[in-house]
Amino acid sequence: MGTSTTFGGDRIMSHVFTMGVSVRRNCWGRGVGRALFQTAMDRARSLGAEKLELGVCDHNERAIRMYERAGFVREGVRRRALKTYKGEYHDDIMMAYFY
Ligand SMILES: CC(C)(COP(=O)(O)OP(=O)(O)OC[C@H]1O[C@@H](n2cnc3c(N)ncnc32)[C@H](O)[C@@H]1OP(=O)(O)O)[C@@H](O)C(=O)NCCC(=O)NCCS
Repeated sequence: MGTSTTFGGDRIMSHVFTMGVSVRRNCWGRGVGRALFQTAMDRARSLGAEKLELGVCDHNERAIRMYERAGFVREGVRRRALKTYKGEYHDDIMMAYFY
């Protein structure tokens, strides 16, 4: 149905965890993504995370809204960091959450 991941950084970034979430398209819009993402946030917290980070394509309004609802804020933009197989460029929006 879907998966979420979180993993911590090394050394001076050991308090910073990176997040990821993905849901099968035929299951979108039923709360699965939100539940999986919350599980990963709780897991990261239990492992000692103080800050969560992720990057999301500027085109991915669904994911951006989900992250903002979860309390993430925009920290910066990596301009034209993403390129599709059609040759279209997109910005990578950097988002973060502090416990
Ligand atoms: C992003 C993704 C994980 C969301 O999963 P989902 O199961 O559809 O999400 P949910 O049903 O739990 O909805 C979570 C939030 O997404 C947003 N959302 C849901 N449906 C939406 C829609 N039709 N339009 C815009 N935003 C929508 C809402 O903010 C929603 O929260 P709310 O119900 O409190 O309003 C899913 O679309 C996905 O796997 N996409 C492909 C992979 C991906 O883009 N991963 C993120 C990479 S950074």
